[in-house]
Amino acid sequence: MGKVGVKLAVGCAVAACVVASVMVGRRVRRKRAWRRVVRVLEELEEGCATPVGRLRQVVDAMAVEMHAGLVSEGGSKLKMLLTFVHNLPSGSEKGTYYALDLGGTYFRILRVQLGGQRSAVIGQDVDRRPIPQHLLTGTSEVLFDFIASSLKDFVEREENVSERIPSERRELGFTFSFPVKQTSSSSGILIKWTKGFVIEDMVGRDVSECLQQAISKKGLDMRVNVLINDTVGTLAVGHYHDEDTVAAVIIGTGTNACYLERADAIIKCQRLLTMPGDLVVNMEWGNFWSSHLPRTSYDNDLDADSPNPYDQGFEKMISGMYLGDIVRRVILRMSEELDVFGLVSSKLHVPFILRTPLMAAMHEDDTPDFREVAKILRDTLEFSEIPLNVRKLVVRVCDVVTCRAARLAAAGIVGILKKIGRDGSGGIASGKNECASRSEMRRTVVAVEGGLYTNYTLFREYLNEAMTQILGEEIAPNVIIKVMEDGSGIGAALLAASHSTSSVDTVQIP
Ligand code: BGC
Repeated sequence: MGKVGVKLAVGCAVAACVVASVMVGRRVRRKRAWRRVVRVLEELEEGCATPVGRLRQVVDAMAVEMHAGLVSEGGSKLKMLLTFVHNLPSGSEKGTYYALDLGGTYFRILRVQLGGQRSAVIGQDVDRRPIPQHLLTGTSEVLFDFIASSLKDFVEREENVSERIPSERRELGFTFSFPVKQTSSSSGILIKWTKGFVIEDMVGRDVSECLQQAISKKGLDMRVNVLINDTVGTLAVGHYHDEDTVAAVIIGTGTNACYLERADAIIKCQRLLTMPGDLVVNMEWGNFWSSHLPRTSYDNDLDADSPNPYDQGFEKMISGMYLGDIVRRVILRMSEELDVFGLVSSKLHVPFILRTPLMAAMHEDDTPDFREVAKILRDTLEFSEIPLNVRKLVVRVCDVVTCRAARLAAAGIVGILKKIGRDGSGGIASGKNECASRSEMRRTVVAVEGGLYTNYTLFREYLNEAMTQILGEEIAPNVIIKVMEDGSGIGAALLAASHSTSSVDTVQIP
């Protein structure tokens, strides 16, 4: 071999060594980066852990905060709002009533015909429409004008002219699912917005009055005769079908609960309560807070970036408005460690781009190669090729976030049961109704509405499993979670009927 040949051979060998060492180096770096990504996942798992012991602490904290919120105004982050609902539908309501359900991504208009016998909703028409995004942050006038127009269209479309007696005014139950300080069963003042609504001029104003004015402006003969929270509507329907229903929970875009409380336990407003018996308290549990809640840096960042920082802490860990965005934040963090997601797409920086239904679809992807996960990441976040191990990682992130949410919701429910002595433990305070011992635990029904619980199977399974773990095998069978489809809307129509001037019998809650 000549000199040139030797040089060439040496050159090739050197080049091969360089290439090999670059490849090895790259592999080592990727391995290290992958380890860092796995570490991000492990930290998330640790941060979101909800062993039963911790859930029981949340249960206790919920019950204690409920008590504090009932003792004095501002005594707790739980507002424990009075609803003035003493009378739940009895089953004897008759006639046609309207309901308007505003509170999430959609609003619904219902026309419900009641036949006068228990469980006899003899007909119902529903119109479900998305709320145009710009209305969530505009003015109250524009929002209510839009709603009243839709209501008028619906009435004109659905009503058979011959069937209506002109002297009879139409009656409407208004479900408005935001924190409202009720001044009566048909009026109340908006305390604050949640779930992305920011219409400043509404805060502090009477919600029914705004709607009534908009309806009258459209020339529609209709009276808003009850104003309720969606939880209260769900409780009304639950109780209508099953008298053992003592509480209602919404787990959808937002989350909240209401329950039946003894009037004498509502210490902060005794002078307003003229009737004995039970009445419905809207907890506004979305704002619940406790140091026992497992919180991560992702939750802190989401809160800081939200339109309502330091507010609705429980809701931001549980509800459909936020879960997808927590997952997005974790994926973003992972993609900063490792370019397995391809070039970090700018889409990944867009808040709320990964909506919770998409996250649920990834979580429940049962194809062997997680095809749906890859498709959603590609279509929504503009990722290119996603290796299988990364797809699995994303599913695991969804699992951790959802599992925590569902288990916390379960702890919240048991907290309510504990407060009213229906968890089999004897309640938080010695009192008249806190005597249920394990052996005499009564059948207890909790009505639930909201897409996160009804449409997301794994969420539902995690919640139900946690209920059994917290309550124990002996007590758990006495607590029944019942789904109330359209409960918040139908409940408003039922309550409109039971509070109607041409009213039928109502049951005062014993
Ligand atoms: C609101 C509650 C409502 C819940 C569920 C929360 O953001 O504050 O009033 O019941 O969402 O819709």
